[in-house]
Amino acid sequence: MDFLELVSTRQSDRSFDQERPVEKEKIERILEAARLAPSACNAQPWHMIVVDEPELRNKVADATSARALGMNHFTKQAPVHILLVEERVNLSSGIGGWVKQKDYAQMDLGILAAHITLAAHAEGLGSCILGWFNEPKMRELLAIPDNKRVWLDIVIGYSRQPLRPKRRKSLPEVVSYNGYLNRGGK
Ligand SMILES: Cc1cc2nc3c(=O)[nH]c(=O)nc-3n(C[C@H](O)[C@H](O)[C@H](O)COP(=O)(O)O)c2cc1C
Repeated sequence: MDFLELVSTRQSDRSFDQERPVEKEKIERILEAARLAPSACNAQPWHMIVVDEPELRNKVADATSARALGMNHFTKQAPVHILLVEERVNLSSGIGGWVKQKDYAQMDLGILAAHITLAAHAEGLGSCILGWFNEPKMRELLAIPDNKRVWLDIVIGYSRQPLRPKRRKSLPEVVSYNGYLNRGGK
């Protein structure tokens, strides 16, 4: 599969085969692909918590869902969660971010999430990034210190969802060449 095909066939999966566990070697390869992600000044300001123990996993899934709002009610089906915790950036990334007023660490964790979801897809697995969850509850369940931000939870498993067509803005809507206003031109 070439890269464009990999990217176009990755999707957020919200239904998983609960009878089919994810092989540990696949998770290890996904984590290795994540470890190799780029980051500002190579700070690697992240920690990944893999949750695969069934009882804990159920509690973590509960912390992601808000039934009344219809949010993330599918997460109990997922055999694995990977939580992304922000760690301290190194000195150069910290100074650079302060001078340039950019939150490099959040960008880094977004790239980490992209590596994880694409690596999962390359392993034949489905995934869904979750940004909506009860962060204090996650800290409590996973013994994460109070001063750490938990930005994302990524659920992984064997998908039971067929491939959907992508709904995306067209290229001319999101790209311009040689200037912001030169939309559609080349
Ligand atoms: C930062 C971020 C947070 C997200 N949070 C959630 C979430 O809490 N629940 C959910 O079902 N999907 C969540 N998604 C998935 C998006 O809804 C999904 O990526 C988007 O609709 C595009 O669809 P696709 O991933 O299938 O291409 C999140 C995605 C990102 C990048």
